[in-house]
Amino acid sequence: MKSFIVCLFLSFYCCFLSQVYSQGTNSRENIQNNAFQVLVLKCNVCHATKKRQDIFTLENMDSLSESIHKQVFIKKKMPKGKKIKLTYEELKALREWLDLTAN
Ligand code: HEC
Repeated sequence: MKSFIVCLFLSFYCCFLSQVYSQGTNSRENIQNNAFQVLVLKCNVCHATKKRQDIFTLENMDSLSESIHKQVFIKKKMPKGKKIKLTYEELKALREWLDLTAN
């Protein structure tokens, strides 16, 4: 009887976890958040200190996606300089988000 209850509890727990996980991985919000982390870590560090440049936020990033796409993937000018580079994972996070915004 005891093990039956433990088993029941475990299966509910697994069900709950898999739901949380599947919601978390591919939702639009999650993809945007991943891309935002990259913008904060690799772009805002610089843009924040140079007054003319946009500081990327969760609110403005979608409307700036076109120029971000242009600078990072087409002209490959950003991130500017040799010190800051995007890793494969970071490029992938940006790519996934840009696909959502149709760029
Ligand atoms: C080392 C500093 C630095 C880093 C890091 C950096 N930027 Fe920039 N960014 C600049 C400067 C300076 C400009 C102004 C234009 C120029 O000098 O090329 C600029 C301009 C831009 C512009 C506007 C370009 C235009 O002319 O319309 C975009 C978009 C942009 N950056 C995106 C990004 C993104 C996305 C990242 C991160 C992946 C990034 N930047 C990282 C320094 C940086």
